[in-house]
Amino acid sequence: MKNTAVTFQEMKANGEKISMLTCYDYSTAKLMEAAGINAVLVGDSLGNTMLGYPDTLSVTMEDMITYGGAVARGCHDTLVVLDMPFMSYQVSIEQALTNAGRLMKEGRGGAVKLEGGASVCPQIKAMTEAGIPVMAHLGLTPQSINTLGGNKVQGKTEDAAKKLLEDAYAIQDAGAFSVVLECIPAPLAEFITKALRIPTIGIGGGNGCDGQILVYQDMLGMFTDFVPKFVKQFGNIGEMMTKAFQDYDAEVKATTFPDEEHSFKLKDPEILQHLAKELRPEEAAGGEVDAEYLAKLY
Ligand code: KIV
Repeated sequence: MKNTAVTFQEMKANGEKISMLTCYDYSTAKLMEAAGINAVLVGDSLGNTMLGYPDTLSVTMEDMITYGGAVARGCHDTLVVLDMPFMSYQVSIEQALTNAGRLMKEGRGGAVKLEGGASVCPQIKAMTEAGIPVMAHLGLTPQSINTLGGNKVQGKTEDAAKKLLEDAYAIQDAGAFSVVLECIPAPLAEFITKALRIPTIGIGGGNGCDGQILVYQDMLGMFTDFVPKFVKQFGNIGEMMTKAFQDYDAEVKATTFPDEEHSFKLKDPEILQHLAKELRPEEAAGGEVDAEYLAKLY
């Protein structure tokens, strides 16, 4: 089944849960599609997980287009949502439209995501009218880490909860087809989910949301710089990778890899005997050709 922005709305109407994961490359995109994940987000969290920045602020449009294109090439039925990087949509509606258009045309996304509530509604409205499905993002919005004062749970007080509900209505009215709710108390996320027509996708928002998303390196135990409380590890691929790298290192050093099974044969072993006549002994490693090895050839 092809997943689109419309499918998302149908799934909410039918009470079906929506599964999302972040994704940043072609091979992983194919695995996620094979697993039946409904949508992947090429999140600007790639700034942390792929590029090693301490936050998402330095991610560029070019980064999003490169990683987005790779993921889109691996997905046929999975909806690919591309994050709009920091300061690619805040300056003006025109800037937002131009950049969202690039993510769709060059990054081959099926939708874009941006962070913020009422303040970005003019952008959401303009993009939606231009035929670009927009996913909104409320609660902990990592691009505002400097004004939020860190990665903190949002919407804990009555005023903050009211503001979140108002923002959720505003982005829905502006045309957003769904909204990520990040790091807000579970009862509030459920309340907002019930209040909205559009689906909510939770990350640290409890299980009352219409869908869930996790950063895939977090849920596979591949990224340990910081592990938020809401992350459940569904596998320890990080440990498996480290073990495989150690085994490879050991086999290379012990010359047990590559073995015959993983090597190619010469068509005719005599080729080397003929080739030995072309040797320049003074250029061999260590300044001379190994006599024992040569004797074997002749
Ligand atoms: O960039 C990202 O990965 C995100 C998710 C945390 C929702 O925005």
